[in-house]
Amino acid sequence: MLEKIENLKREFDAEIQNANDKNAVLNIKARYIGKTGKISEILNEIRDASIEVKKSVGAKSNEIKIEIGEKIDKKMQQIETDEINENLAKNWVDVTLTDSKKDLGLNCAGYHPVSIVQREIEDIFISMGFEILDGPHIEDDYHNFEALNIPSTHPARDMQDTFWFSDKKHLLRTHTSTIQVRGMESHKPPFKFVGPGKVFRCEATDASHEVAFHQLEGMLVDENVSVANLIYFMKTLLSEIFKKEVEVRLRPGFFPFVEPGFELDIRCLNCGGKGCPVCKQSGWLELLPCGMVHPNVLKYGKIDTEKYNGFAFGLGLDRLVMMRYKIDDIRHIHGGDLRFVKQFAEF
Ligand code: DAH
Repeated sequence: MLEKIENLKREFDAEIQNANDKNAVLNIKARYIGKTGKISEILNEIRDASIEVKKSVGAKSNEIKIEIGEKIDKKMQQIETDEINENLAKNWVDVTLTDSKKDLGLNCAGYHPVSIVQREIEDIFISMGFEILDGPHIEDDYHNFEALNIPSTHPARDMQDTFWFSDKKHLLRTHTSTIQVRGMESHKPPFKFVGPGKVFRCEATDASHEVAFHQLEGMLVDENVSVANLIYFMKTLLSEIFKKEVEVRLRPGFFPFVEPGFELDIRCLNCGGKGCPVCKQSGWLELLPCGMVHPNVLKYGKIDTEKYNGFAFGLGLDRLVMMRYKIDDIRHIHGGDLRFVKQFAEF
């Protein structure tokens, strides 16, 4: 019997040496030391043998079983290492190659002007205790319209030309107001947050219209919030951004998700108010639509309207960037021309 064990070990050694993939090794493992493997067979065979035989064969079998186990582990490790090396040899990348970096925005051009301004505004809001939230570009009807008090039959849907997906249920968000809805879902009042990001409209482009542009949504919900609070926050924001007093005007504005709603305009910094393509010759730029959050919106957000109210605003980021850097055509912003982006290099 002992000889049988020795033979079995020799057989194993030969087999494991020739195995060159994981499956083969696992197969050998099962055949030798698995539950119904060769070692178990030997132990079964000596079930009725004398105590002495059982002792010596049992001890030897265990010894061999351990040895086989160790050899199998070693072989598996070796196969894994070989696989990794083979992969590296096949798919290697020289991460020190410098040439490919030449045209990467970050290495030669710095941040995009929209990112620069967005970060700056985020910092201003963080200093006023606001959180920064994010939301998906692909939205559903509920978050883009319904929960913002724009039911499917509402004519206000026509105000925003929408890129719909063919399922007619999903769309590219037309505004960052969707982040108001998502913010109310994830927060209990009181809260205040801003949500910057890209938005999409299916419209003809010109110096002040693009199909993709940037907004920064803001929402504050608390007890006893007033229009005076709204004006205070907006004034603080604008004087921080422009580092000087800018001329502003407030007009009534209609947005279904606020009541009352306003349009806050600023004197066009591109032309100083004389009239140019950016301000459509009016001397004023619509910069900040805002208002007191409509009770229906709060109700969709499961907020107790007896106790809480709030304000919201939607800042047009690209317009702000255009005023800051005196850019006369919004299409430069998404044009992808590095000669344009490089002018704003900031890291
Ligand atoms: N979502 C609106 C738009 O894209 C802008 C807006 C208006 C946002 C008023 C607001 C608001 O938060 O209060 O046209």
